[in-house]
Amino acid sequence: MTKTDKMRAIRDEILVLRNSPLYEYRVTNSFFPVIGEGSHDARMMFVGEAPGRNEAKTGRPFCGAAGKVLDELLEHVGIPRESVYITNIVKDRPPENRDPTTQEIEVYGPFLDRQIDIIKPRVIVALGRYAMGYIMKKFDLDLQLEPISQAHGKAYPTKTSYGDLDIVALYHPCVAVYNPNNLPNLKKDMEILRAYPVKLLQ
Ligand code: URA
Repeated sequence: MTKTDKMRAIRDEILVLRNSPLYEYRVTNSFFPVIGEGSHDARMMFVGEAPGRNEAKTGRPFCGAAGKVLDELLEHVGIPRESVYITNIVKDRPPENRDPTTQEIEVYGPFLDRQIDIIKPRVIVALGRYAMGYIMKKFDLDLQLEPISQAHGKAYPTKTSYGDLDIVALYHPCVAVYNPNNLPNLKKDMEILRAYPVKLLQ
């Protein structure tokens, strides 16, 4: 199976994920699940929390207000959006944009694990505390887990079966949606990504 076939298999499974607590809400509202977007050969993968309303209406990650901020951050460091892969832990929209529950993270986490396995990124950028908590635990870095107020802008190096990986923690872009005064700090944190090549693998 090619990487694209494997991603399609994930999409097909999520489309009929009736055991998800968010399935009914998706179907009732004619929302789409948001699987992810970008290059399957990306070295850098961004992981957010869960789709918002715009994302669930279009099926595209980070295409609403938080997406605008993410685009601005990527532009700030000269990283083309199409050179990275962007996804979320939770693939369906939680009602009223509430935080994802532990159960939702348990249901959707294995799909993110499979996406990481397909892409084999060299850098995972965790956007916000949920993504950071999930990714750090997945790579057995629980002991280094800090509050996002401490972790933001830092890289946590680790090893995987396919080689070295840096996990970079950033504040979630929505903090600049709620308060635009946060944007300069987000841009400053983002500058850590200038250290990594983004040329596609292969
Ligand atoms: N917030 C997220 O965490 N993900 C999105 O895709 C959009 C907003």
